[in-house]
Amino acid sequence: VRIAWTLTVVVAAACGDGSDRAAGGAPAAAPPLFGEARAPATPAEEARQIWQTSCAGCHGPRGRGDGAVAASLAVRPRDHSDPAWQAATSDAAIADVIVRGGAAVGRSPAMPARPDLADRRDVVDELVAMIRGFGAR
Ligand code: HEC
Repeated sequence: VRIAWTLTVVVAAACGDGSDRAAGGAPAAAPPLFGEARAPATPAEEARQIWQTSCAGCHGPRGRGDGAVAASLAVRPRDHSDPAWQAATSDAAIADVIVRGGAAVGRSPAMPARPDLADRRDVVDELVAMIRGFGAR
């Protein structure tokens, strides 16, 4: 009986349920489970892939702030199609929060930093362009 119980605990711990993600506020960067694995051909394509795999879960596919986990965040991502926000922010500020994360700019720490994009200005610029595009409707 004791061995069976121990096994159950070990198996349960090994499988987990993803809830450990919540500890730091942001999910760890992970490769996509589904979709294409081939290398993106252009910075724009890379930005679209990054949005789908690393941003849309919180921000929603069209940046409306309606991603699958948005409702569970203490501070929810805003609706990027809001014309007032689009007018009030700058491209530099958008790029800055993408690379340095929310905590570094006095915003919610749930918005993860992407230091890996610090020397990928081409990709960051495409992400900024995508977010600007969410305002054009
Ligand atoms: C774990 C959830 C999460 C992920 C993943 C995430 N964000 Fe965010 N993001 C947020 C939250 C929450 C805020 C709002 C922060 C605040 O207002 O204090 C935010 C804010 C932003 C802002 C600033 C908007 C403003 O209010 O000025 C931009 C731009 C942004 N995110 C882009 C991105 C991009 C691009 C990615 C992917 C590389 C991404 N985010 C990934 C949660 C997330």
